Amino acid sequence: MASILVIDDDSSIGETLELYLTEEGYQVQVAQTGTDGLNMYVQNPADVVILDIRLPDVDGFAVLEDLKQESENVKVIMITAFHDMETTINAMKGGAFDYIHKPINVDELDMAIKKALKSLEMEKKIEGLLTEPSRSFRVGDIIGTGNEMREIFKTVGIVSQSRTTVLIQGESGTGKELIAKVIHHNTSPDEPFIAVNCSAIVETLLESELFGHEKGSFTGAIARKLGKFELARYGTVFLDEISEMSLNLQAKLLRVLQEMEFERVGGKDKVKVGARVMAATNKDLKAMAKEGKFRDDLFYRLNIVAINIPPLRSRRQDIPHLIDYLLAKINLDLHKKVIGVSDEMMEIFMKYNWPGNVRELENLLVRACVVAKGQVLGKNDFPELGTEEKTAGSMAEMFQAAEPGKLLTLDEVEERYIRKVIRENDKNKGEICEVLGISRPTFERKLEKYGITFERE
Ligand SMILES: Nc1ncnc2c1ncn2[C@@H]1O[C@H](COP(=O)(O)OP(=O)(O)OP(=O)(O)O)[C@@H](O)[C@H]1O
Ligand SMILES: [Mg+2]
Repeated sequence: MASILVIDDDSSIGETLELYLTEEGYQVQVAQTGTDGLNMYVQNPADVVILDIRLPDVDGFAVLEDLKQESENVKVIMITAFHDMETTINAMKGGAFDYIHKPINVDELDMAIKKALKSLEMEKKIEGLLTEPSRSFRVGDIIGTGNEMREIFKTVGIVSQSRTTVLIQGESGTGKELIAKVIHHNTSPDEPFIAVNCSAIVETLLESELFGHEKGSFTGAIARKLGKFELARYGTVFLDEISEMSLNLQAKLLRVLQEMEFERVGGKDKVKVGARVMAATNKDLKAMAKEGKFRDDLFYRLNIVAINIPPLRSRRQDIPHLIDYLLAKINLDLHKKVIGVSDEMMEIFMKYNWPGNVRELENLLVRACVVAKGQVLGKNDFPELGTEEKTAGSMAEMFQAAEPGKLLTLDEVEERYIRKVIRENDKNKGEICEVLGISRPTFERKLEKYGITFERE
């Protein structure tokens, strides 16, 4: 329960606030003088202090200073008697969190308290991140609340006890590398984690990148070079975008995984594999294997344990949690104190399609935090998402996949079409059902499935 200390000499204000705030669920203490207030704070520090500037014994500013001395994080909301610019400025300069004017408006006070508590919570989170030695690799750093994510956490736990190959599948930006790092950190934290992007390197070089080469094995091989498999020692080789590996190299990789040894390019010595292999892809490898675009024996070898990360739009309940978590991280990096997004913005976020998944959310938040003036990010801070059209767009845009060359699933098309019809027609529920040619219960089910809110009756 959050605690509040009220320091005000006006007993009627003290009593009213005590009643009201207790009712709101806070633990409340009231003091009528600055000295009493300070003593109470020292004995039992409150999360938020509501402090009158004019007190009988000492000046409110002096109390503010003492409170700050006592605890740097204390959130003080000053009560100023009139709309006096100078007092207000002094209060803020003195380290007050916020100020409100007399007569006290309850909504205004409520808002200030909530903001102060949120800010406190955020500071605690940041502190937690700062004191946590290996911050980005704990399971706790993967945000996920739904069943699918919980199953993933379980799998992460299980595979962290062995060294089996893991195949991580999911759309771009869903956290594939993050999951791989968490597994690695839980299995062999003191060994290297080495990521290789199979699409970024031409085939011939990729082979020597992975397995190394002997001096003189090809033009330009002026010295022996160790490959990623050797460099990873007993850690992890993370093969990102494995779908892009040539069939030829796929055959070599399969042999290495079966025999657990390899030769450097141009060499004869056998080198033992100590590293664990994890692979990631945003393609449907099984389908590619069926079409002969990926070796099916390698697919089965990699697929011993598969983790399929659902796209963000199918687990929208994670969005608020991700925002909290990402903002704490961003605040820390950018030395900002952004506490959240406005309700209006949250609504847009909850409806948005997120083709770039968590990475897109993270990028949007970073950009907004860099330019934001306030503590709460509003519509103006996200010009990219501001307009309705942007959140779904034209017919052509509707069929555009997250990535070039990738096709949409039927569910994705259906979701986008339903959103478009709802957005562009000012019709009631019955009429929308008619347009879509489905019954009301079916419509309701689809709204639920895609997390679409529809408020017109
Ligand atoms: N569940 C999550 N909780 C917290 N942060 C996440 C989560 N998922 C992803 N992120 C963050 O989002 C960003 C993108 O994640 P990551 O690079 O792991 O995605 P990816 O699936 O490998 O993407 P790509 O396919 O584009 O390579 C990272 O900064 C990561 O830390
Ligand atoms: Mg990645």
